[in-house]
Amino acid sequence: MFAVHLMAFYFTKMKEDQIKKVDRFLYHMRLSDETLLDIMTRFQAEMQKGLGKDTNPTASVKMLPTFVRAIPDGSENGEFLSLDLGGSKFRVLKVQVSEEGKQNVQMESQFYPTPNEIIRGPGSELFEYVADCLADFMRTKGLTHKKLPLGLTFSFPCAQTKLEEGVLLSWTKKFKARGVQDTDVVSRLTQAIKKHKDIDVDILALVNDTVGTMMTCAYDDPYCEVGVILGTGTNACYMEDMSNIDLVEGDEGRMCINTEWGAFGDDGALEDIRTEFDRDLDFGSLNPGKQLFEKMISGLYLGELVRLVLLKMAKAGLLFGGKKSSTLLTKGKIETRHVALMEKYKEGLANTREILTDLGLEPSEADCIAVQHVCTIISFRSANLCAAALAAILTRLRENKKLARLRTTVGVDGTLYKIHPQYPKRLHKVVRRLVPNCDVRFLLSESGSTKGAAMVTAVASRVQAQRKQIDRVLSLLRLTPEQLVRVRDKMRAELEYGLKKDTHPQATVKMLPTYVCGMPDGTEKGKFLALDLGGTNFRVLLVKIRSGRRSVRMYNKIFAIPLEIMQGTGEELFDHIVQCIADFLDYMGLKGAQLPLGFTFSFPCRQTSIDKGALIEWTKGFKATDCEGEDVVDMLREAIKRRNEFDLDIVAVVNDTVGTMMTCAHEDPNCEIGLIAGTGSNMCYMEELRNIELVEGDQGKMCINTEWGGFGDNGCIDDIQTQYDKEVDEGSLNPGKQRYEKMTSGMYLGEIVRQILIDLTKQGLLFRGQISERLRTRGIFETKFLSQIESFSWILQETVKELAPRCDVTFMLSEDGSGKGAALITAVAKRLQQAQKEN
Ligand code: BG6
Ligand code: GLC
Ligand code: GLC
Repeated sequence: MFAVHLMAFYFTKMKEDQIKKVDRFLYHMRLSDETLLDIMTRFQAEMQKGLGKDTNPTASVKMLPTFVRAIPDGSENGEFLSLDLGGSKFRVLKVQVSEEGKQNVQMESQFYPTPNEIIRGPGSELFEYVADCLADFMRTKGLTHKKLPLGLTFSFPCAQTKLEEGVLLSWTKKFKARGVQDTDVVSRLTQAIKKHKDIDVDILALVNDTVGTMMTCAYDDPYCEVGVILGTGTNACYMEDMSNIDLVEGDEGRMCINTEWGAFGDDGALEDIRTEFDRDLDFGSLNPGKQLFEKMISGLYLGELVRLVLLKMAKAGLLFGGKKSSTLLTKGKIETRHVALMEKYKEGLANTREILTDLGLEPSEADCIAVQHVCTIISFRSANLCAAALAAILTRLRENKKLARLRTTVGVDGTLYKIHPQYPKRLHKVVRRLVPNCDVRFLLSESGSTKGAAMVTAVASRVQAQRKQIDRVLSLLRLTPEQLVRVRDKMRAELEYGLKKDTHPQATVKMLPTYVCGMPDGTEKGKFLALDLGGTNFRVLLVKIRSGRRSVRMYNKIFAIPLEIMQGTGEELFDHIVQCIADFLDYMGLKGAQLPLGFTFSFPCRQTSIDKGALIEWTKGFKATDCEGEDVVDMLREAIKRRNEFDLDIVAVVNDTVGTMMTCAHEDPNCEIGLIAGTGSNMCYMEELRNIELVEGDQGKMCINTEWGGFGDNGCIDDIQTQYDKEVDEGSLNPGKQRYEKMTSGMYLGEIVRQILIDLTKQGLLFRGQISERLRTRGIFETKFLSQIESFSWILQETVKELAPRCDVTFMLSEDGSGKGAALITAVAKRLQQAQKEN
């Protein structure tokens, strides 16, 4: 009994001594929570630096945008190829993702070796090798001659500007192939694949292993928004708010950021915690001065750190009786898998003895205990450092979401995490201690990064297919320069038809004489009333023109015209108009004043003089009965009579295009065209009188209201009409009429967009195939939405320049509408009237 106790005592004492010895020797490697919190704060600052546009260039933690914007939603499906290059093993895989009620992923894979002469030789040979392996895999699996999308898991830092491209910033870990840095690895691989005539793949996504891991885990747990690799290398990614990512446009939603935290400390930020062993290890590595954080943490380096410590301790006589074996002197002889074996709970000591013996050493019991403790300190430090950086990411996520407590899942993968017996437990514990306000679940990715990479590829391939389909639909609306030239020439021919006596009756572009023969000359003056009917609003205006100074003062009031009046009887419409005039006169204190009035009436009218105009037919949203064929001035006069309250002197009836031209001509005498791109679409211009066969006389000019909205009503532009135009036409008040107007003007553009949205939704290309009730409502998509998304005016101006290269055109916006122009016309007409009377 006594002997046993004595033995136990002796053993405990010996163990304590050994542990104390190692603790003293590696004092610098034991990090307190205080230090870890400090490192966490430093890493938070590093992330901020990497995300900022100005600070990113000098940041060592690059915070790379990945263009992965959402975690899987379960709707992914299809058959994909996947390559997984950069970890301890190189794999080619086929992944089958199906929905079928519940999510289901099937994978077949094949490992291929990655000999040093390949991963450290010329870059082109590396890519050729990878392509060869892919081709081999496809042949064995019978996948040749089948076009498949491919996701590439490439576990190195790449700068991406889109999902299917990535410029290698630098090799890390064991890779150092020449001539690859600063090139796009996707196109390099695509080129190499092209050499195999029997396979056809389309690389749709480049994904870092952290991202693949996060996506793999997120497929099973939607809370997963962080991915961590603890393998050959170490790294993490997480979902960041777009508004914080300066390097990518847009503020909506989130994007996954590949932190590349392995490079933390490359700018000296961790010098205070690095030890002589870290420096020695770095010195002998493939990439000295780089990936300093990774070199304290990851699988490729932990074994070597242990070796360097043991060597130093042996040299100092603290181990193996001061002896060192030649194996112990050889770089790389202790690997992370050895460290893991030595730290095993029960067999650890026996394993240690065996491993040390294999290294040609003769360890004592005490040596084994000491070496085991060295391993513990080094792997513990690794877990601690990883925990500190991870805690920084979790804190950032919690702050981004403005939460007091964060519930989240971290997806983890990598050989270190998987094979080291204590590592996961230690890591979890420290993270929870450092961020007590986060409830973190750690989820091991059972199937590597590939499943996640396939999810990303699935989304990319769906987006690509949709984009193609949408492009096909929209290409119908995209007019080529040749088509535009044809439209121009046809329009030109139609204008001629309208002007000629013989062809005029059949012409769809009516070319209506307006009896406006001159431009304002600046001598106009006086007070006028103007009405403006036919656009979005009905307006009544008082216009005061002062001569000489070309200055005009206007007062106006806008009145709504209810739909039931627009489409009621003619009498109701004109009574309503007169009612509005009465209100306005009242409002202006002008009751009883007998003012000359100009009537802007924005519909096609056959005029025989400036104050006579018979409505040919309603367009746009009007359809009042008993008006077509009637003189609108007469109808207005009768309505005034019916009211019997005031009298008005109606001097001119004016189309809005003409009013607009005159408004602008008042400021710029060169103005000789008026264009309306509003509820409707129309144009007027000054034509030589001798070309206007419908009007007597050869001298001078007259303004022609083209009514070009009717262009195409004879079918002459059917070739550019789409099914959407037809649907809009059929749903309109005047089917078959105003076809050109229906392709160009405000009343219809929103409706065309709505028809397209409905069709794209039906095809499953938008809104997950669900057409909402509101989208089914006619007119719900207003044209103003288009201009909130796009700006058109420069397109108009540019296209005019291209189609009329010999015309130097200035576009002038009529700030004052057509009302001012109508008043100017009234002024001129009034003067002529007076002159006639006097004669
Ligand atoms: C694997 C991934 O599961 O984990 C690899 O699929 C990744 O892409 C690897 O690089 C990381 O671990 P290791 O230990 O293989 O480097
Ligand atoms: C290295 C690579 C990084 C990768 C990590 C884990 O740090 O630079 O891209 O994610 O190793 O494999
Ligand atoms: C319609 C009318 C036309 C008007 C145009 C712009 O096309 O028919 O007269 O000029 O709309 O309002």
